[in-house]
Amino acid sequence: MSANLDIDRLRAETPACADLIHFNNAGAALMPDAVADAIRAHLELERRIGGYEAADAAERELDDFYTAFADLLGCASDEIAYIENATRAWDMAFYAIPFKEGDLIVTAEAEYASNYIAFLQMAKRRGVKIQVVRSDASGAVDVAELERIVSAGGVRLIAITHVPTQGGLVNPAAEIGRIARANGVLYLLDACQSVGQMPMNVGDIQCDMLSGTGRKFLRGPRGTGFLYVRKGILDQLEPPFLDMQAADIDSAGGYRMAAGAMRFENWESFIAGRIGLRAAVRYALEIGLQSIQERTFALADQLRVELTRIPGVTVRDLGREKCGIVTFTKEGEEPDAIKRRLARHRINVSVSRARYATLDLGKRGLPAVVRASVHYYNTSDEVGRFCDVLRSS
Ligand SMILES: Cc1ncc(COP(=O)(O)O)c(C=O)c1O
Repeated sequence: MSANLDIDRLRAETPACADLIHFNNAGAALMPDAVADAIRAHLELERRIGGYEAADAAERELDDFYTAFADLLGCASDEIAYIENATRAWDMAFYAIPFKEGDLIVTAEAEYASNYIAFLQMAKRRGVKIQVVRSDASGAVDVAELERIVSAGGVRLIAITHVPTQGGLVNPAAEIGRIARANGVLYLLDACQSVGQMPMNVGDIQCDMLSGTGRKFLRGPRGTGFLYVRKGILDQLEPPFLDMQAADIDSAGGYRMAAGAMRFENWESFIAGRIGLRAAVRYALEIGLQSIQERTFALADQLRVELTRIPGVTVRDLGREKCGIVTFTKEGEEPDAIKRRLARHRINVSVSRARYATLDLGKRGLPAVVRASVHYYNTSDEVGRFCDVLRSS
């Protein structure tokens, strides 16, 4: 496990670690003090001097929101938009694409259900077609199959979920990006569960658009999200909503969109949340995404190994590469009952349901799985205690 992280310090900066085993980082990770303090300080400033005045006073942090994300994702600061959650960020990108009848949207079995609902709506509205690439033997997107589909032509968009909500799978985002770029096809990556638990570089991945949330592995506040849009494709997109943040009325009576990704934002937003999310990104960058990944993935591997030793437990994660999300079922004990029992021992997990991922859990005949997602602030000892409680039903 990566030796260069000062885990005692990181845990001390997250006081809830002291009396709680929090394995729900794919739901909402525990905020470090630096993030909670930044939010609280801004709310206090709003209380003392007023919301608009507080935003003026916080100009430096608010500007740094974009630079922090540019540092995190390897893009330019004007390629980032602040949006209230990952779903809406994804929507702003998806619904900006001028689809025509017959256009093909290519996606994968792990796709997040909300995204798939948007594909279905676009099929109804504009007559696009949806093709789900089958998975390879490991459960990841079959890249050869994807390449065959894309080379046949007619594909307008590849929309892939990097790490799904319902398991430890890491889809081969950069291999997919190579195919998208070589074929001049737009590529929208749902990185809601991957940003914050591994290094991500949009140049290496070659995605055109990437959406994410604040509250999961980045450890930011709820009700915050972000969108990356590559500058080079801006002229192909028309955001579904435009307001005074996103555009100006010009002298000819038309409108001119804001430069860069700001055209995907809206005028009013949760400013304390933006400050908190900026603090979370800076905190993660300071720790180092490579170290975060090494420790998180190693803890998850340990958890998978220990789970397989518990009678009746089946680990449900797919893929060659697996991340910090660990899913399992246990014979004779429903996921919701497991969650409740663990909560009585101050252990937090969540339950992923087939309706969040119909093409995946639904197809595998799994109505629900327990999701135990570790982060770098968890420990080997917690993994052991977790398994002891799980075993002792
Ligand atoms: C893969 C994936 N995409 C998108 C989302 C939606 O994120 P948000 O709830 O911030 O809109 C989730 C939430 O769990 C998710 O797991």
